[in-house]
Amino acid sequence: MLSPRQTAATLAGFLSAQVVSAQTDASYSSGALGEGPYSTFVSTYATPPLWNHVLPINDTIKPQLTSGLIFIGPRGTATHQAAPYIYNQTGELVWDGSLDGYTQTMAYSVQQYQNKPVLAIWQGQFNAGGYGSGYNLLLNETYQVVGNVTTNNLPGIGADIHEFKITTNDTALLTAYNATQMDLSSYDGTADGYILTGMYQEIDIATGASLFTWNSLDHVDPNECYVSPGSSGTEALPWDYFHINSVDKDNKGNYLVSSRHCHTAYYIDGTSGQIMWKLGGKNSSFTGEGSEFYFQHDARFHANDTQVSIFDNGATSWETSEATARGLLIDLNYSNMTATLAVEAIPYYNLTVAESQGNVQIQDNGNMMIGWGQNPWLGEHNAEGTPLWAAQFGVGDVQAYRAHRSVWNGYPTTLPAFVIQSNSSTTGYASWNGATEVATWELLGSNDASAVVSLANTSAVGTFETNFTIPSSPSYSYYQVRALDSGKLSLGYSNFVSGSNGTVVQPAATQTPAVGAANATTVTSTTSSTSTGFSSASTSGAETSKSVPMLVTMSAVVIACFYAS
Ligand SMILES: *[C@@H]1O[C@H](CO)[C@@H](O)[C@H](O)[C@H]1NC(C)=O
Ligand SMILES: *[C@@H]1O[C@H](CO)[C@@H](O)[C@H](O)[C@H]1NC(C)=O
Ligand SMILES: *[C@@H]1O[C@H](CO)[C@@H](O)[C@H](O)[C@H]1NC(C)=O
Ligand SMILES: *[C@@H]1O[C@H](CO)[C@@H](O)[C@H](O)[C@H]1NC(C)=O
Ligand SMILES: *[C@@H]1O[C@H](CO)[C@@H](O)[C@H](O)[C@H]1NC(C)=O
Ligand SMILES: *[C@@H]1O[C@H](CO)[C@@H](O)[C@H](O)[C@H]1NC(C)=O
Ligand SMILES: *[C@@H]1O[C@H](CO)[C@@H](O)[C@H](O)[C@H]1NC(C)=O
Ligand SMILES: *[C@@H]1O[C@H](CO)[C@@H](O)[C@H](O)[C@H]1NC(C)=O
Ligand SMILES: *[C@@H]1O[C@H](CO)[C@@H](O)[C@H](O)[C@H]1NC(C)=O
Ligand SMILES: *[C@@H]1O[C@H](CO)[C@@H](O)[C@H](O)[C@H]1NC(C)=O
Ligand SMILES: *[C@@H]1O[C@H](CO)[C@@H](O)[C@H](O)[C@H]1NC(C)=O
Ligand SMILES: *[C@@H]1O[C@H](CO)[C@@H](O)[C@H](O)[C@H]1NC(C)=O
Repeated sequence: MLSPRQTAATLAGFLSAQVVSAQTDASYSSGALGEGPYSTFVSTYATPPLWNHVLPINDTIKPQLTSGLIFIGPRGTATHQAAPYIYNQTGELVWDGSLDGYTQTMAYSVQQYQNKPVLAIWQGQFNAGGYGSGYNLLLNETYQVVGNVTTNNLPGIGADIHEFKITTNDTALLTAYNATQMDLSSYDGTADGYILTGMYQEIDIATGASLFTWNSLDHVDPNECYVSPGSSGTEALPWDYFHINSVDKDNKGNYLVSSRHCHTAYYIDGTSGQIMWKLGGKNSSFTGEGSEFYFQHDARFHANDTQVSIFDNGATSWETSEATARGLLIDLNYSNMTATLAVEAIPYYNLTVAESQGNVQIQDNGNMMIGWGQNPWLGEHNAEGTPLWAAQFGVGDVQAYRAHRSVWNGYPTTLPAFVIQSNSSTTGYASWNGATEVATWELLGSNDASAVVSLANTSAVGTFETNFTIPSSPSYSYYQVRALDSGKLSLGYSNFVSGSNGTVVQPAATQTPAVGAANATTVTSTTSSTSTGFSSASTSGAETSKSVPMLVTMSAVVIACFYAS
């Protein structure tokens, strides 16, 4: 059901909402469900854009896919809640970043920092000209901020929306745009005009210091590019002649920079900043089909710099250059400076251009994960470019800057959400935003502080929210759930909820199990067992004061579990 967002007041009590899971649905494609269909849940406010699997994942395809979850940041006017989201490959929600306070993002991906996975999320201000000024937060696997990276020594200019990439040296590559006054009369502009320079920096993440700064205007004359000032070139709307949108760095210490408005990927000396070669555009150093792309995004090196992947948009909002956008893998031959197409991937279900945004991520097995930018489509192609699966996550103005598939294990420090609804029977709904390891939910009942009884174990069915019937007899005053992983290790407990009206009973401190209960191997109950409660579980570890505040207890449990796994 595509119901409006619930209010806080109703969430606290009984909710009526229905889970909508991934589906292949002609009514979705036709727009009958609205331009930005989304799912709702009983236990949480999460409202993720709903997917429609236009080319579903079947059993033949499954073994051809790498493991990992899907990372997109849906945005656009038809998006119910723009935010960073994590889904699994079948479109099941894993994490709704808006519940943790994150809003519209652009650069958003899993990266490695200090040999650990981090979620990098750009946040900040969007500017009218299609760039931004903000910062990139790094979240570790417990979704806690462990880094905050922006520009250095660029007064008034924060990190732009387009790029954030952590190198193997724990430095970050990020883009920046600067509006600079310039005489544009030789470029069809005015003498007192304004131009946007495309800049990037390499930042030492730990100290925030800039190690390298590059400014397009020092190296690329606007005549080399394809976009004239038109009505821009003013202070309010500076001329975006270059439009930097990706930066990569190779092991030799040089950079690969994508300029959308010059149709060129520039290879830049990591010491001098000089351009060493150009792929594409008016002055391409390479010839061949692999040097023909238009308004592209996301240029990345592969195979020891002998290949470059590029998302070829084929268009911008005012100009169409090709029949369709393409995901490209390009072979570079440096002896005769030819660029040939190794792989060309075109969108499965709608041959059209992508007026903005988009990316290509080459998986370890050669598969290409492609986000079709301004079109609300994503999907995976094999190493030959053949589509394996494809989904849409909207019909109207829903977009995502990039789409990635990456391995991610999430251990949130928030509590699992638990809500009880009573109709003809009493149903409990459990979810845990960002938790990836929950295999089983254990239902616990209590009448007072001293006895918590394990009532039932329900396997987490692979959907974001799991529901289960609360046994009517014996009934308890309060109910709680515990999340267990596949090894029966306790991951965390929800608050207690009133059995009579579903209200969250807070604080539940006196009923909070001791830290020592983290190891739940003693819990073996299946249904309606009253034999195993916290009193026995807690004997397996150190007993601590039961008045320990809930949050402190929970994070201690989660962290202990993390290091144990
Ligand atoms: C995540 O970061 C927090 C805050 O720095 C830290 O306390 C916690 O130990 C980290 N967790 C992991 C799994 O790295
Ligand atoms: C990150 O840094 C920016 C400044 O660049 C600041 O405005 C923001 O509050 C910081 N956020 C966090 C979570 O540290
Ligand atoms: C940005 O542009 C302003 C205005 O022209 C100029 O004063 C400033 O030096 C520029 N900043 C950089 C880092 O180039
Ligand atoms: C990492 O640092 C080493 C030593 O300074 C340097 O040779 C190498 O090019 C750097 N690699 C990247 C990707 O920055
Ligand atoms: C990568 O290419 C460089 C030449 O550009 C070569 O010297 C080096 O041996 C290559 N490395 C590998 C692992 O093939
Ligand atoms: C360039 O060299 C490659 C590999 O040696 C060869 O396959 C290709 O045909 C050459 N292209 C041209 C235009 O000479
Ligand atoms: C396919 O693209 C065209 C624009 O090229 C658009 O009008 C149409 O709605 C798209 N169809 C779907 C199913 O997205
Ligand atoms: C599975 O999906 C692939 C890719 O869409 C398709 O080629 C194949 O026919 C499908 N197989 C079955 C059994 O449906
Ligand atoms: C994704 O969710 C489906 C249920 O919709 C589940 O069957 C599947 O195991 C999940 N996959 C992953 C990778 O979590
Ligand atoms: C419970 O979850 C199942 C999917 O696992 C769903 O089919 C069913 O409609 C849900 N029931 C309620 C009452 O939400
Ligand atoms: C539970 O604790 C015991 C004893 O410390 C340990 O051997 C076992 O591996 C733990 N179980 C899990 C699932 O962590
Ligand atoms: C719900 O039940 C609890 C505990 O029985 C009680 O304290 C609370 O006032 C009730 N709330 C409502 C809205 O009835």
